[in-house]
Order: sequence, then C-alpha cells, then structure tokens
Amino acid sequence: MLTLERVTKRFGGLTAVREVSLEVRAGDLLGIIGPNGAGKTTLFNVIAGYYRPDEGRVLFDGHDVTGRPAHAISRLGLTRTFQIVKPFGNLSVRDNVMIGALTRLAGTREARAEAERVIGLCGLGPHADARARALPLGLRKRLEVARALATHPKLLLLDEVMAGLNPTELGGMIDLVRRLHADGLTLIVIEHVMAAMMRLAQRIVMLHHGERIAEGTPREIASDRRVIDAYLGEEFVLADA
Ligand SMILES: Nc1ncnc2c1ncn2[C@@H]1O[C@H](COP(=O)(O)OP(=O)(O)O)[C@@H](O)[C@H]1O
Ligand SMILES: [Mg+2]
Repeated sequence: MLTLERVTKRFGGLTAVREVSLEVRAGDLLGIIGPNGAGKTTLFNVIAGYYRPDEGRVLFDGHDVTGRPAHAISRLGLTRTFQIVKPFGNLSVRDNVMIGALTRLAGTREARAEAERVIGLCGLGPHADARARALPLGLRKRLEVARALATHPKLLLLDEVMAGLNPTELGGMIDLVRRLHADGLTLIVIEHVMAAMMRLAQRIVMLHHGERIAEGTPREIASDRRVIDAYLGEEFVLADA
C-alpha cells in the first residue's frame, strides 16, 4: 500500500531523514519509535505531502505521490494527525470533524452524517457541541483522530496521539486504535509510550539520527542491542525481563 524508496529530507545542513526505505502492506499496523529529533515527524510530513523529499520516492496505492501536496494525497486516502494538535479552537467538535468530512463530501448533510458517525466511533458523542479549545488533552487527541478519520483514509498516520494522556485516556486510545485496525484500516503509529507500542504494533521500525537502524516484531525490537543502546535503556530491558 505504501512504499518508501530511500527517502531523504534535509533542512539546510541537517539531514533529518536519511535514505529511509519502508514497505507497508494493507492491514498493517506499523510502529515507529526513536528518540526526540530522530526524524519521525519529518518522515510523516514527507509521506503525507507536507514536505517534498530531497531524494527518494513515495508510492501510495499505485500512485507515485512524491512531492504531491497534502490535500491531493489525502484525497487518495492517506491522512496524518499532528503531534501538536491544531483543531479550530472556536469551533465545536462536530464542526471540526465536519471540516474533515467536507474535504471528501460535497454536501453538508452528508458531511454532517459522516461527522456523527466518526464522532460516535471516537467516543466523542457527549462532547460534540463543546468548543474544541475547551476539551482536555485526552479528548483533543481523540478529536485529532476523528478529524483525520473523517477524510476517510485507507492509511492513517498517527503522530504521538498517546503522549501526555493519563492511564484511563491511554487505555481508551489504545482501544480506539485497535478497533480502527480491526475494522480494516492500515496504520502507521509514532509513539513514545513503549508499553502501548508493544501492545499495538505488529512491526516496529526504529529511527535514529534520521536513519532506520532496526526493524522487527515488538519482541525482537525490545531485545535489539542497537535499540536498547539508542533508546530504550537498560531499565526497560530489566523491567521486561
Ligand atoms: N521545519 C524544520 N526546519 C528545520 N529543522 C527541522 C524542521 N522540522 C524538523 N527539524 C529538525 O529535524 C530533526 C528531526 O525532527 P523531527 O522529525 O521533528 O523528529 P522527531 O519527530 O523524531 O522528534 C530535528 O533535528 C529537528 O530539529
Ligand atoms: Mg515528532
């Protein structure tokens, strides 16, 4: 469904992503981990069309989408969420989700119906009339997922939608992601919450200084020396043992 061929993205002298190749098949739930500054968000920005890569190609669903703008890629069925959630604060939850739906549906009536469906799916029903800015972080992250879902993606990129959540919110978000995956959505998930990643992902890719340094099942990744040295630390290994 998604193929990255040696994707490189530079910011001036800094190479944020270096020759990353990746294959995501329909139905996958791929995790991406790596320390702060590893290039995870930049990789999402390249995949989703917010940045044009300096080198390499991005192929999605039979199309070469390299350098195509985000709205065009979203229309093909590839949408991302933002690490720093940015809903329209003054608008209600419902209207925020409707805006996502309107990128695909022409009629407001259809878009409203689609928004209601997605709001229900994301457990935002009781908050549909609340202003986005009044929501606590856990619900704002859900709204971010809902807005992306309303564009009807085949492949959804989630950028740290679990960061900063309390244990209850975290459990709810894990359930939601699991449900979306079970319903047939293909996902790539960037997450720092390792315990969540271990429970969710089928496969995990580790980025470090912009490079892909390891890939494997959660179990393989947790015992990979390069991953432990660069990211997890001994504490994690001991805690898991
Ligand atoms: N728009 C930008 N302009 C310049 N440097 C950037 C920009 N976006 C990210 N970077 C740099 O690229 C590197 C990777 O950042 P990022 O992709 O955000 O990492 P991560 O999401 O893994 O924490 C960092 O060194 C960051 O400072
Ligand atoms: Mg990031």
